[in-house]
Amino acid sequence: MALSTHKYHEAHSVYRRLTNREKTLIEWFHGNTQSLLDNDFAVSMSQDTDVKVLSVGAGDGHVERPIFSCLRDSLGYSKMNATIVEPEASSIQRFQDLVAKEPLQGVNFDWRCQTFQKYDKSEEAMGDKFHIIACMGSLYYLGDLNEVLKNMYSRLEDGGILLLGVAQGGIGFGKLVQYLQTKLDNSACTERYSSWEVQDACKNLNMAVSQTYIIEAYLDISMCLDKPPDQLSQDALAMLDYITYREDFVRRAPPDLRGEVLRFLGSECTERGPAGEFLLEESTALLVIRREGYILHCFVFKVFLEGVASLV
Ligand SMILES: C[S@@+](CC[C@H](N)C(=O)[O-])C[C@H]1O[C@@H](n2cnc3c(N)ncnc32)[C@H](O)[C@@H]1O
Repeated sequence: MALSTHKYHEAHSVYRRLTNREKTLIEWFHGNTQSLLDNDFAVSMSQDTDVKVLSVGAGDGHVERPIFSCLRDSLGYSKMNATIVEPEASSIQRFQDLVAKEPLQGVNFDWRCQTFQKYDKSEEAMGDKFHIIACMGSLYYLGDLNEVLKNMYSRLEDGGILLLGVAQGGIGFGKLVQYLQTKLDNSACTERYSSWEVQDACKNLNMAVSQTYIIEAYLDISMCLDKPPDQLSQDALAMLDYITYREDFVRRAPPDLRGEVLRFLGSECTERGPAGEFLLEESTALLVIRREGYILHCFVFKVFLEGVASLV
C-alpha cells in the first residue's frame, strides 16, 4: 500500500533529520547559481521586468527559500514573482512562516495550495509562463512523466530554464529506486524515477538537457540495518516507509521480500562511514533544460538565409 499523505509527512520529517541533502543543496546554490545562469539562462530582460519563477512541490520551503534568494541575487533584478504550487496545506503554512521570519526582499509570493496537475488545468493558470521553473525532489509525485515534462516545458518563456532535481541514477538511492521498481511492482513505485529515466524521457521528447550537475548527499540509515526487523525503532520503521514509499513496509511486506530489500540496501546501495555507519548516497542530479526560443529561431533563420544565398 502506498504511503498516505499523513504518514509520508511524518516519515519525511525523520528523513530530514538523517540526511545532509538540504545542507548540500543550499551550499551548492550559494556557490553555483551565478554560473548556472551565465551558462543556461538566455532571457534578455530589462531592469523593470519581473522575474517569474514557479516552484512545483516546494514543501516547507527550506530548500526553495534559499534557491529563490540565490536566483534573485544572481539575476540582479529587484522584483521576483514566485508561484508556489504545493498541495499540502501544512507545508505551505510552514513555508509562509519561514518567509515571515526571514523575509525575501523583492519577492512576491503567489501561493497555490493544489497539485501541479490541478494547477496546470486551472483557468487561473491558463497562459501562465515562467522564466525559471524549479521542481526539486517532487517530480516523482506528479503523475505521468512525459506528460508533466511537456507541461512544464510549455510553461517556460523562451530562453527560460527548467531545473529538475532528482535522485542520481545508478548509485545509492537511485540504484535502490531502480531495484524497487523490479521488486515492488505497483503504481506507487513506478513513480520513483532516477535521473536515468528522466534523461531518457527528455531525450524522447526532444527536450535537450543542457547541463547535469551532481550535488552529493548522504542519508544515514544505520538504524534500519543494525537490528533485526522486529526490534527496529519507530524512526527506523518510518525511514523504511519513506525509502520504499510503502506504508508499514516492515510489518506488511512478505518476510522474503523484506529480507531481500534490506540485504540489497545494506550491501549494494550503501557504503560505510568513518564510524562504521551505513550511508546511503542520495545525491541530487540537477538537470537543466532550456527552452530554446529566440536564439534558436535566429539560428535556424540564419542557416535558412545562408542556404538561400548559396543557391543564388
Ligand atoms: C520530497 S518533497 C520535496 C520538497 C522540497 N522541494 C525539497 O526539495 O526539499 C516533495 C513535495 O512534493 C509535494 N507534492 C506531492 N504531490 C504533488 C503534486 N501532485 N503536485 C505538486 N506537489 C506535490 C509534496 O507535498 C512534497 O512537499
